[in-house]
Amino acid sequence: MQTAMKRLNRKIEVARRHGAQNVAKALAGKALQFPLALVFGGDRWHLRGFHTTNYKKMAVELARAVPGRLDVAVEVGCGLGDILTRVPATRRLGFDVDRGVIAWARFLRRARGPRAEFAVGSFDALIRHEVREIDLLLALGWFHYMPDEWIEHQTRSLLAAKRVRYVMVDEFPDQKGRIERIFDGFGVRIDRRHDWQDDKHLLLYRCDV
Ligand SMILES: C[S@@+](CC[C@H](N)C(=O)[O-])C[C@H]1O[C@@H](n2cnc3c(N)ncnc32)[C@H](O)[C@@H]1O
Repeated sequence: MQTAMKRLNRKIEVARRHGAQNVAKALAGKALQFPLALVFGGDRWHLRGFHTTNYKKMAVELARAVPGRLDVAVEVGCGLGDILTRVPATRRLGFDVDRGVIAWARFLRRARGPRAEFAVGSFDALIRHEVREIDLLLALGWFHYMPDEWIEHQTRSLLAAKRVRYVMVDEFPDQKGRIERIFDGFGVRIDRRHDWQDDKHLLLYRCDV
């Protein structure tokens, strides 16, 4: 009972911080997207949406603060492209290993407009892609379940194949700084922001120095 009350209070607090308009948008989005989750078989996690998810808003804000022009922004593990489609870049490429979610994201392009190109795959698909220079690479919401060696290997291979100016990643507190330690070896950390909702950090690195 106490736990249920705690959870309810937390939900009210989160809703209050995002504001009524955002809560309404999130609920409407969920209602519209629910049938699509069934059709495309994508993970229900994606129904969480943008408007009431603080780290997604923070990621877009942080992308806006990246110095210089963003010609090409890439997100590996892009899901439906909630973040990627809002990043102010000329060209946006999204990769995800989940075929269902990529089909779902492509379907949403019809409503959102062609803001991003979506492809099935991960770092290997990005490495094979024709794009040579990436101004901002995002990998958010999934590194916490990948082993350090895998992350290091993929990042090293990508940086050897392409010029990548900035990289944005995230890290939960129970990871004890392991993502930060890995990326401290690949670039210069220029920003680190705490997300009050999920209690994680967004990290921005400059990798072409
Ligand atoms: C929690 S969702 C986050 C989606 C998006 N980054 C966001 O924050 O809105 C994690 C996504 O990463 C994808 N993913 C998991 N492992 C991956 C991998 N090895 N390569 C590429 N995508 C992966 C999942 O399919 C899922 O869509």
